[in-house]
Amino acid sequence: MHSSPTPKYDFLQQEKPVYSGADALTRLERWLTLQKNVSRIAVLCDRHTAQDCLPILLKVMPSSIPVAEIVIEPGEHSKSLQVCQNIWQRLTQMEIGREDLLINLGGGVVSDIGGFVASAYLRGLRFVNVPTSLMAMTDAGLGGKTGVDLDHIKNRIGTISFPECTVCFPGFLETLPEVEWKSGAAEVFKHALIADPDLWRALVAHGCTPESLAVMLQRIQRVKMEVVHIDPYEKGLRKILNFGHSIGHAIESQSLSSSTVPLTHGQSVAIGMMIETEISLRMQKLSNGEAEEIIQVLSHYFGKVNLSDYSVSDILKWMRYDKKNQKGEVKMSLLTGIGSCDWNISVDENVMADVLLHYGAKNK
Ligand code: GLY
Repeated sequence: MHSSPTPKYDFLQQEKPVYSGADALTRLERWLTLQKNVSRIAVLCDRHTAQDCLPILLKVMPSSIPVAEIVIEPGEHSKSLQVCQNIWQRLTQMEIGREDLLINLGGGVVSDIGGFVASAYLRGLRFVNVPTSLMAMTDAGLGGKTGVDLDHIKNRIGTISFPECTVCFPGFLETLPEVEWKSGAAEVFKHALIADPDLWRALVAHGCTPESLAVMLQRIQRVKMEVVHIDPYEKGLRKILNFGHSIGHAIESQSLSSSTVPLTHGQSVAIGMMIETEISLRMQKLSNGEAEEIIQVLSHYFGKVNLSDYSVSDILKWMRYDKKNQKGEVKMSLLTGIGSCDWNISVDENVMADVLLHYGAKNK
């Protein structure tokens, strides 16, 4: 059982700091002035962040360094090796060298693909993450995971490679569409459930709204950064950050491969968390009362789970690709209470199938 691992983690005192809050861009401006060897900066953004966020970022770029943008299409479909190749070609045309800098300005797709591109370009280009969505500020943009999808299998190709600094300016959230807000909220609830019971109670009382986030953002980020600090390469503890993702990624992959309007990552994770809460209960890791409370709160916020568009066999098939599996066996991170989570738990296929059927999945 694990809860709130290291309360003393300090964002600013790290070699690769996290600047979070209203002054984050000012801190980035100061940090950039200290980077004496940078002669060019490339900014990776998507069409939306190029319009809404890039003009704000450009105001803190040093006037002495040329800055050029690379714009990709928004959405999970951009997380492909083909898009990586296009970005590598652009970096090469721009003569970006190893001492230069890539700034990833966007949501989780931009930080995932940008971090991966940087980690492989010239065997390692320095990069900065400037997350602009709730998902990226609370999860994807923090902690060094990078990657692209392969044949709709989520993050099949990737690295763990840490940004030089991470810059979370909440002002960027003002232009975030509602659907993207909800997507990020799923990771916020996840952090509370795995490691911070007081955060859970605050979310139950106040919801995940722009007002409550203004107070809670650093606390949410701290849950993730403490875990990453202890186990950066996911040998053990970091697997708790994958609560909800064994089922969530399987549903997301199925949705990406079959739907014209696929579920967002957060919608998939919210469904995954409710189903994995039920699995935690059936595996006798979690009490009935806690499981009921979690499922009631999450379904109130994200809607009730209805898997009638999915078949048990499809979901189980995608789950075989989960990175946490060992020796061909499905291993899950499951709740042991509100605010604590355990990992590497073997779950029998019959238990998973039974729970999927309970939530309406087709029996084939
Ligand atoms: N998003 C899960 C992790 O960073 O480990």
